[in-house]
Amino acid sequence: MTTASAPGKIILCGEHAVVYGRPALAVPVTQVQATAVVEAASSGIWIRAPQIGLEAEMTDLASHHPLAALVRSVLATLAVSAPPPLRIQIESSIPVASGLGSGAAVSVAVIRALAAFLGQPLPDETVNALAYEVEKLHHGTPSGIDNTVVTYAQPVCFVKGQAVERLRVGAPFTLVIGDSGIPAPTRDSVAAVRQLWEADPGRWEQVFDRIGQLVQQARRAIEDGDIPALGPLLDENHTLLQMLTVSSAGLDRLVNAARAAGAWGAKLSGGGRGGNMLALVPPSLVNTVCEALQQAGARRVLVTSVTPPV
Ligand code: MEV
Repeated sequence: MTTASAPGKIILCGEHAVVYGRPALAVPVTQVQATAVVEAASSGIWIRAPQIGLEAEMTDLASHHPLAALVRSVLATLAVSAPPPLRIQIESSIPVASGLGSGAAVSVAVIRALAAFLGQPLPDETVNALAYEVEKLHHGTPSGIDNTVVTYAQPVCFVKGQAVERLRVGAPFTLVIGDSGIPAPTRDSVAAVRQLWEADPGRWEQVFDRIGQLVQQARRAIEDGDIPALGPLLDENHTLLQMLTVSSAGLDRLVNAARAAGAWGAKLSGGGRGGNMLALVPPSLVNTVCEALQQAGARRVLVTSVTPPV
């Protein structure tokens, strides 16, 4: 039996613009995890994911089913043409369609557990590339940031198509993540932004440029350990995401509640239109901001700390 886990993730800044080649910053969220366990079975290849009500033999799944496609591509990469009978069991505490990278984390956990079960553990670059192929099935035209931060489980500065750069964290900081409770598939919001861009590329390229500048400023603030300076950059990023039509009344309510409770800055995170927002919070105000978010309707609140490597 082999087991592998992968964390959730949250995008600090730069979502959507990252699909158009601008940089974005993302950090792992280790409080939530996806885990895959692979063990011997008596026949076939079984996939069991109780949270989504899935228990099926792989041959009974549609060929484009993301989990079936994932298993096939792992077997092909490892050149295993006649795999032994096995069962893959998937558990995840990462909420689905909420911007926390649940799909990417499930992929990474399954790839690692299956490769280890077959006696051929894969390097991170290959795990990341395989997970990216599945992200395309889930999300259409993803940038690859989700699978990258989940694979490396490190804060990253990500530019589509470039080697991943680790984000140096000069001083610890605390994020409060509030779930609007509205599931919102990333595929839909990415497609909506694409429609805007196609109708007026010049206008939206300027917005993406500004987001790219904010991300560079945010990166410097994090590297310098100047955490309060990060707050206004997150706030402006939220305004630009509103312009891109990917916020929602519920997300705006949570963002405003966090700011009013003393957050240094707050914004939606991920695809938007639902899912999660994040607030950058002075450590002394964590409980106050959590309570304010709950009162403003957050379905669930998570606190995560981003720390310099030990
Ligand atoms: C989703 O977590 C982030 C988006 O920028 C989409 C992507 O980068 O693939 C909205």
